[in-house]
Amino acid sequence: MLSHHPNTVALNAIGHTRWATHGVPAERNAHPQIGGNGELAIVHNGIIENFQELKKSLLAKGYVFRSETDTEVLAHLIAEGRKHTGSLLEAFAWALRQAHGAYAVAMLCPEEPGTILAARMAAPMILGIGVGEHFVASDIPAFLPYTRDVVFLQDGEIVRITDHSWEVLALDTLNPVQKSIQTIQWDMQSARKGGYKHFMLKEIFEQPQVITDCLTGRIDEEHERILLPELDSLPVPARLHIIACGTSYHAGMWGQHLFEDWARIPVIPEIASEFRYRNVILEPDDMVLVISQSGETADTLAALRLARERGCLAIGLCNVVGSSIPREANAVIYTQAGPEISVASTKAMCSQMVILSLMALYYAQRKRLLDPQTRHEALKALKALPDQLALSLPSMRETAQKLIQPYSAARSFFYLGRGHAFPLALEGALKLKEISYIHAEGYASGEMKHGPIALIDPEFPTFAIALDDALFPKVKSNIVEVQARRGPVIALTNPGTELHVDHLWTIPAAWGPFSAFLALPAMQLFSYEMADYLGKDVDQPRNLAKSVTVE
Ligand code: AGP
Repeated sequence: MLSHHPNTVALNAIGHTRWATHGVPAERNAHPQIGGNGELAIVHNGIIENFQELKKSLLAKGYVFRSETDTEVLAHLIAEGRKHTGSLLEAFAWALRQAHGAYAVAMLCPEEPGTILAARMAAPMILGIGVGEHFVASDIPAFLPYTRDVVFLQDGEIVRITDHSWEVLALDTLNPVQKSIQTIQWDMQSARKGGYKHFMLKEIFEQPQVITDCLTGRIDEEHERILLPELDSLPVPARLHIIACGTSYHAGMWGQHLFEDWARIPVIPEIASEFRYRNVILEPDDMVLVISQSGETADTLAALRLARERGCLAIGLCNVVGSSIPREANAVIYTQAGPEISVASTKAMCSQMVILSLMALYYAQRKRLLDPQTRHEALKALKALPDQLALSLPSMRETAQKLIQPYSAARSFFYLGRGHAFPLALEGALKLKEISYIHAEGYASGEMKHGPIALIDPEFPTFAIALDDALFPKVKSNIVEVQARRGPVIALTNPGTELHVDHLWTIPAAWGPFSAFLALPAMQLFSYEMADYLGKDVDQPRNLAKSVTVE
């Protein structure tokens, strides 16, 4: 931020409340990070993918590192840039051109007091135009109390601000870029939600970016190999117990299919509160994978401790860096999904599924089980998901808004799915009940005839996940069974399938099990629109907490 008041020197300052992605939350890893011998300071949001190789080269040049952050690497690289260029701006650009990944970065340097240099690549950054003061920030709420005039920046642009001037330059050429000033009409609360009505809706629409961030640095494009260095020092599990609660448990159930199919690793999904009180059998070569967005869920943490007491190696799959589970696991993989504010988990499950996909491919790679073609198809499909989902979300929301009308009076719902879609059915049901308070049962559709089908009647609608996969014919039969008992049916399906139901909801297909990444947000939006239509407190549903840190 830069400001100037008469009879005083220009004040300029940088600061960052970082969502930790590298290094535990500790003072040494806090921002700003210092470059060189104190020649400059930077704050950074994002992930520098190639920070390890850059760090190695800087260490060889004698740079001393005080933190575990990727940000400090960038700071020293800019300092190194001063030795190869004629100005601070050129050094800044020189360094950024070598950094791969995502960054929104701002820099102060005593060499140019009163100036802030900033830049963005695959991470948000906005310029605020004040009177006698200018701002750069990741998000509008940071400076909304001071100015409503903003300049939206694009990837590959550098900003240079002083207290009385601002300019935008192209990172690659340093040529000026023409930009227009826009005026924000939002109030502060709307601004925190990025203009969305609820955090849940914002987080549903963040899922394309979440998938991109999850994949960042984890695929060696040249060799089409999965990079999960967090797991390299651990053995491949002979058997894997996936332990979690709620939505995270559903993600683990979904991942089971991939671990078994691609890596041929037997998997036992476990509800943490059950696992911790059973006399479980853990063989010497077994491992556990505990999945927890918060990293603080009491039952999941207790299950991790039990497994560790039994001598079992434990991997954490978490979103919150430095939380309890990562501190007590043998290894942790972070989902890098950013803060999830809504109590109902949406983007967290999406990010967990991305990491589970990568883990299954990684173990298959280590066991030399996966043929190159399948791995190629899987990686190609994963990388295509962000754009595919970004394109689909708006129309999904429109469909959800239309679909809830005829079903808003329902007292109870069936959610049916088979195979990969069974965990999705459980998750769809959980979403509906936890935010709209309409009872819903997720069921394996093949199980319906063993009792629950007695529930079917015209007042008991079924949400059937009938994706275009090998089990589609079976699900289609189950739908017919429901219709024979006059149960209304919404079918979530893909183009090309043939179904005759009350409401057909067709969404794009993705390769193999990855259609789940399109089905999941559709159900999230159905629940969101239903809850909003019914006037429920979507972000803070009654009786619920974001993290269940007690039994
Ligand atoms: C899901 O919408 C809920 N927020 C809840 O089921 C949650 O997934 C569960 O409590 C587990 O939380 P965790 O991932 O933080 O461990």
